[in-house]
Amino acid sequence: MSAETRAGVPLSSPDITEAEIAAVTAVLRTPHLSLGPELAAFEADLAAFHGVDHAVAVSSGTAGLHLALLTLGIGPGDEVILPSFTFIAVANTVAQVGATPVFADIDPVTLNLAPAAVERAVSPRTRAIMVVHTFGIPAAMGALLALARRCSLFVIEDACEAIGASYGDPPRPVGSFGDLAVFGFYPNKQMTTGEGGAVLTRNPAHAERLRTLRNQGRAAGAGWLDHVELGYNYRLSELACALGRVQLSRIDEILALRRAAAERYHNLLQNIPGLEVPPLTVPNGTISWFVYVVRLPEEADRDGIQTELSRHGIATGRYFPPIHRQPFWSTHPASQTADLPVTERVARRTLALPFFNRITSEQQVEVAEALRKALGR
Ligand SMILES: Cc1ncc(COP(=O)(O)O)c(C=O)c1O
Repeated sequence: MSAETRAGVPLSSPDITEAEIAAVTAVLRTPHLSLGPELAAFEADLAAFHGVDHAVAVSSGTAGLHLALLTLGIGPGDEVILPSFTFIAVANTVAQVGATPVFADIDPVTLNLAPAAVERAVSPRTRAIMVVHTFGIPAAMGALLALARRCSLFVIEDACEAIGASYGDPPRPVGSFGDLAVFGFYPNKQMTTGEGGAVLTRNPAHAERLRTLRNQGRAAGAGWLDHVELGYNYRLSELACALGRVQLSRIDEILALRRAAAERYHNLLQNIPGLEVPPLTVPNGTISWFVYVVRLPEEADRDGIQTELSRHGIATGRYFPPIHRQPFWSTHPASQTADLPVTERVARRTLALPFFNRITSEQQVEVAEALRKALGR
């Protein structure tokens, strides 16, 4: 590796302070490393933040999606409508419960499910819509919830990328709209538990089922070796919960830092000819900045630009190669019948730039200048 690439601006970086280190260390001084007081407190904090009754912490966002589908009884013969322009776990978990994913196209501005496309995808077998709040931009919940009500469909919100975003008037946090909502706390997210996630619900029966499923099928209050149904080990450790509690207590500060970083990029990049920057605001909601994704000019050579930026130590990502184009999914019937012109058009041009709480103005200037040069502008 050359000196040039060693300096580097990473794509993402967790923001861990002495408070997180102290909280995790304190757990290590107790005998409770799993299923203890930190779990109960983290779940209570998450539920209170979102104004819902129940939060069930799990080992990842993927585990949360899997349990959400199982809790609603979705399985073989059922269809679930979802975007292809998202992370692969969204479709994989639908397949893992034996249901059939049906890909619907997205809105070209928000990059979230387009309600009209979702409506076209509804069939007599549709059971649920998996509504992803992509890149922290709230999805069109008003239209999607109305459609779900009209067609008697469940709504699972995938808010893995969107903690702290809000929607509606008066505004409500994303994750408080669906039958169930899933969050993810991987280290590239706004807040992290290392690995981890959570499922939120207002329904006490759903909460109980989620707790049973995440803990090897043990019913509430049952003994350690009593298993009433097929379950999983999707528990989140006390160390992770302690870390999550401190991160959640800092969420306003974190979101403000990320918003300021997004505004700085906007000012640096908006005048580069042919480059499309993400909107800073959206109607009916507020953004929780997860990543900063630009769209390159149509004719730009994205691979070449990524290589050029990486030569300067600047990491970038192709968020997202559509799921229906992934090797595993491309031969699936759901992919072959998918009609996703906006997804195809957008996904060819997207480039995620380095983006994290503590990114400095100097680093952002460096990224902007390197991108401008790589584009020949
Ligand atoms: C939209 C979306 N859903 C689900 C996941 C899965 O979360 P995890 O990586 O915690 O399993 C992610 C994570 O990147 C995501 O972005």
